[in-house]
Amino acid sequence: MDPEVSNLLYRHPELYEVVYDGARHAVARLAEAIFQAQLGRMPASLLDIGCGTGRDLEYLTRHIPDATGVDYQQPMIDFARRQRPGIDFRTGDMRTLRLERTFEAITSFGYTLANVHTNRDIDSVMATYAAHSAPGTLLLLELIDPLRTGKLPRDFHIDIPDLRADAIAEYTFHPAQQILQRERIWRRAKGPVRDSVKFRLLYPKELEYYLDNHGFEILTCHDLAEKHNAASAFVVARHRGRS
Ligand SMILES: C[S@@+](CC[C@H](N)C(=O)[O-])C[C@H]1O[C@@H](n2cnc3c(N)ncnc32)[C@H](O)[C@@H]1O
Repeated sequence: MDPEVSNLLYRHPELYEVVYDGARHAVARLAEAIFQAQLGRMPASLLDIGCGTGRDLEYLTRHIPDATGVDYQQPMIDFARRQRPGIDFRTGDMRTLRLERTFEAITSFGYTLANVHTNRDIDSVMATYAAHSAPGTLLLLELIDPLRTGKLPRDFHIDIPDLRADAIAEYTFHPAQQILQRERIWRRAKGPVRDSVKFRLLYPKELEYYLDNHGFEILTCHDLAEKHNAASAFVVARHRGRS
């Protein structure tokens, strides 16, 4: 396990969907609208990278049966398989994943790409996107908009029969590394517990450069006003084919 991944909710996937309630599948519904706008239909196949608990994939597989979800963390994949049997969930690292096939669409939601911090690792993830793309494959990324970090959520609540907890997030920006660090201290009856995560920010021209180097052209960019996505940029790119 990457020591950077010390997020409390990653260790307890059952809590993830309590904190991030999904706003009635806002992200998956936006993805559907983007697929309809770009293809006039849903894609025939989908790879969701950093699928977490698989909630978005479950919504999208109603219309895309050939779908695979990949996540780095075994507890997330174990939870996704228990909750969503019948969907193909795999454990894998987006820097090295090679499924030896292509998909008509690739998604990566919830700031998954921001979990790699170095330029070299970002390049490796881009190579993974390209390795699973054919000419025309759509790539849909949910990224932190570096110009809207002030809209990232600060108040978090868990209120379920077994656990009540509240946290206020503190964000610290490290400009030289383009890293935004989030610290949360959850207050609960059993005593406080801390979680920490680092997000690598990507500026628009930088993202365009990485994508272009791996054969993708940016088509559009979308926003969502929902609480947990208000700082999100949904970037849609298309693979040109091998250069
Ligand atoms: C904030 S969660 C988003 C989960 C889900 N996509 C969603 O939007 O609800 C980010 C996910 O990225 C995964 N992740 C982080 N680094 C990864 C890597 N190197 N390869 C694959 N998944 C990774 C984490 O395990 C986590 O499940």
